[in-house]
Amino acid sequence: MTQGGRDRSAGETGSRPEILSASTWADRVAALLADRLAARPELVVCLPTGSTPLPVYERLPSVLAARDVSAAHATVVLLDEYLGLRPGHPARCDALLGKVVVDRLRPARTIVFDVDQQEPAAACAAFDRDIAAVGGLDLVVLGLGRNGHIGMNEPGSAPNAPTRVIGLAPSTREAAIRYGADPPPTHGVTLGMAGILATPEIWLLATGAEKAGILAATLDGPVTPEVPASLLRDHPGLRIIVDDAAARSVRSPGPS
Ligand code: F6R
Repeated sequence: MTQGGRDRSAGETGSRPEILSASTWADRVAALLADRLAARPELVVCLPTGSTPLPVYERLPSVLAARDVSAAHATVVLLDEYLGLRPGHPARCDALLGKVVVDRLRPARTIVFDVDQQEPAAACAAFDRDIAAVGGLDLVVLGLGRNGHIGMNEPGSAPNAPTRVIGLAPSTREAAIRYGADPPPTHGVTLGMAGILATPEIWLLATGAEKAGILAATLDGPVTPEVPASLLRDHPGLRIIVDDAAARSVRSPGPS
């Protein structure tokens, strides 16, 4: 057992990935989330949107119900948000999180970026204050971006980068078009690298062959702000949970 009483053996935590088949990956992540909620009903968990976690979010209600675990005392924090999309726009991260997580799980509290009522910088400051007011994050779940971004921490993000407004990279803007924002936003707001790295537990998720190259760069390439996800590698509470298609170019998969 190591930090925080977690067992780091056999693919549990660390910078080597836990590799699962496409058919079991989402069940595994949902079961782990249920474990965390069972152990700490007041969990403060920061969640991503995007397509990667959707199968996890679909399964969560039944996984929680089967174990008689509830999110009713938990706080769900939204990882990031686009700027310039109208309230309720289906590509908005808060709209998606509302539909796929909040409406299904009914957590006690949800923290999002108030980009409609406040200037973006003020919304970032309020977001950080809201997180501090609930005692800080226990767990942050991240999807691996095509260019190695996490949240909207694009390449070039330093480990001490705060919650902030950021210009979106071309591949992030292309993804926004796929999520239904056309023309895509040019900027977003995101939990910073500093806030991510200050969280005791970090899960990095990746699925599908399109993530194989960037997952290999994240895990086997240099630790560099040019691949922000690589900056997670030394974090003691990192857990990397991927499917076998995403892991196919990883050099030494390690135990799973
Ligand atoms: C979304 C987010 C992004 C995505 C990443 C992967 O809230 O923070 O960093 O997690 O771009 O996106 P998908 O899962 O659509 O491949």
